[in-house]
Amino acid sequence: MTGRRAGQRFDAENGVATEALLFLGELDPDAIGPSIAHATHYEPTPVGDLDALLAQVPFKLADTTFVDLGAGMGRALLLAARHPFRQIVGVEISPALCAVARENLRAIDRGTLRCRDVRVVRADARMYRFARGDLVVYLYNPFGAAILEHVLERLATDASRDVALVYHTPVERDLVEAHPAFELAGETPFGAVYRLATPAAARGSSRQSTTNATSPNSMLAPHVASTPGHPNHSQPSPGSVDPKTAPT
Ligand SMILES: C[S@@+](CC[C@H](N)C(=O)[O-])C[C@H]1O[C@@H](n2cnc3c(N)ncnc32)[C@H](O)[C@@H]1O
Repeated sequence: MTGRRAGQRFDAENGVATEALLFLGELDPDAIGPSIAHATHYEPTPVGDLDALLAQVPFKLADTTFVDLGAGMGRALLLAARHPFRQIVGVEISPALCAVARENLRAIDRGTLRCRDVRVVRADARMYRFARGDLVVYLYNPFGAAILEHVLERLATDASRDVALVYHTPVERDLVEAHPAFELAGETPFGAVYRLATPAAARGSSRQSTTNATSPNSMLAPHVASTPGHPNHSQPSPGSVDPKTAPT
């Protein structure tokens, strides 16, 4: 099962509400401010895609913090919480979507989660300051280059830690790949995983030099066929939707 039906099933099984297609301009534009000009719409990560991308992260997920920039209703937070992250943070600019994500966190059966420290922060990703320690930063094509370049600069300032940038539907991948601090660590048909390149001396012994088949996380989940551009993918990818087709 793929696409919206899989999303509806995920919601029903977990007692949450994440399956929707919403445009910020029709939701709470006044509360968002100028960054709305660079924001994509809300659409949840297809069920299965996050596991496939996390399998490409070139270091262990345990003891790292997962940050979803543009967390929406929190689907990716709930999926990430099935992994042993130290902490999970959703950063979302829309107050209305933050409220739904927090409600979903209250509704989920915490017994199904391996990480129980999951929180939602209402903030513009452009200004967000990351916590210390190793990071997995997730983007489901939430915004354009004008915001992404600030995020990259902020992440690049601390090269002493492990940072993976997990980018689903990487519309602005050229910007990441042109940045000297980031290198490609893995890929799926629908996304790319980058790591913050650090000087060899700063690398810890746990860090691996190769990815994909040797990734410590590659056994966590199989790849799935529900990808933007794939015939089975019934949802449009963020950034490619005509607002006129949005549900009212
Ligand atoms: C495609 S949705 C992704 C939702 C969620 N990450 C998931 O995968 O289920 C993109 C989200 O990014 C949010 N967003 C856009 N610009 C943002 C910004 N500057 N700061 C924080 N969130 C932003 C939107 O409100 C929307 O909820």
